[in-house]
Amino acid sequence: MRSTSRFGARHVPEGHRVLEVGTGTGYNAALLCHRLGAERVTSIDLDTSLVERARQRLAHLGYAPHLAATDGALGAPRFAPFDRIIATVAFDRVPGAWIAQTVPGAKILMPVDLTGRAGLLVLLTTDGTGLAQGHFLSHQGWFMATRANPDAQPLLGKALDDKTGSTRETALPVTVAANAQEPFEFFAALLTGGYAWLEFTPSDGGPRQTVLAHRDGSWVNHTATGGDQAPCTVRQGGPRLLWDEIERLHEQWTELGRPVRERFGLTVAGGEHVLWLDDPQGPHRWTLPVSVLE
Ligand SMILES: C[S@@+](CC[C@H](N)C(=O)[O-])C[C@H]1O[C@@H](n2cnc3c(N)ncnc32)[C@H](O)[C@@H]1O
Repeated sequence: MRSTSRFGARHVPEGHRVLEVGTGTGYNAALLCHRLGAERVTSIDLDTSLVERARQRLAHLGYAPHLAATDGALGAPRFAPFDRIIATVAFDRVPGAWIAQTVPGAKILMPVDLTGRAGLLVLLTTDGTGLAQGHFLSHQGWFMATRANPDAQPLLGKALDDKTGSTRETALPVTVAANAQEPFEFFAALLTGGYAWLEFTPSDGGPRQTVLAHRDGSWVNHTATGGDQAPCTVRQGGPRLLWDEIERLHEQWTELGRPVRERFGLTVAGGEHVLWLDDPQGPHRWTLPVSVLE
């Protein structure tokens, strides 16, 4: 099998054992079975009925990989260790079980859930001591967020209804923090612990508004009072002043020369997630906040 894609056959060599998290239709599992032989493929999904349907489809193709209905965050210890773990569902933190279930030098490819959106991909290598480390990828990989987490959308409704909070002017356009194509957005989302957002223009013709909502109850209501020109008005409330944090992070990121996402990497060990710029041992490192879902 010859592949020209970036994550093609040479990244899943013959003889490798692979865990796929998020079986879905079974399509990806079928490709893996074709490539490696079904006995080397394990695929898990939280949804029992999806797993059963995928089992039937795969059987129809003559494949019988290891399938299980379970929360993907637990991995599949029965069929470990794995040389590769590929997640087609996003998690906000790299599950420790995955690292524990890999051989030294194994690779883990995972979309990161930044509270309901999941375009950020990280590719980690494990070292056999419980550590996994690697870079974020330049391109987006859109996947659903784990069903095990509560839906982020209701947070936005609460933020919209909240009439409390403090109001001030801001020179920072909301798009830098609330548009997944913006190079700063992932930095803000990772270091604040992630937030959902919603942009709308009120039916009374008022200026465009954008609401940001963190799972800890912090919220931001950003109004483009000056149209596309600064300043805008920002109202924020909840346990943290989220917009203040985003502004500080934007200053830091600007001082660092506005680095693109693939210059950043992640080190995961003992449950701690450390974000770094260019070099895991370099001067620019940030410990990610503990997930509020834990
Ligand atoms: C984008 S689909 C995966 C597509 C799949 N790989 C395919 O080839 O069709 C995401 C899947 O992740 C599953 N999922 C969501 N949360 C999960 C979790 N916590 N653990 C395991 N699977 C999960 C969903 O049920 C869904 O089937």
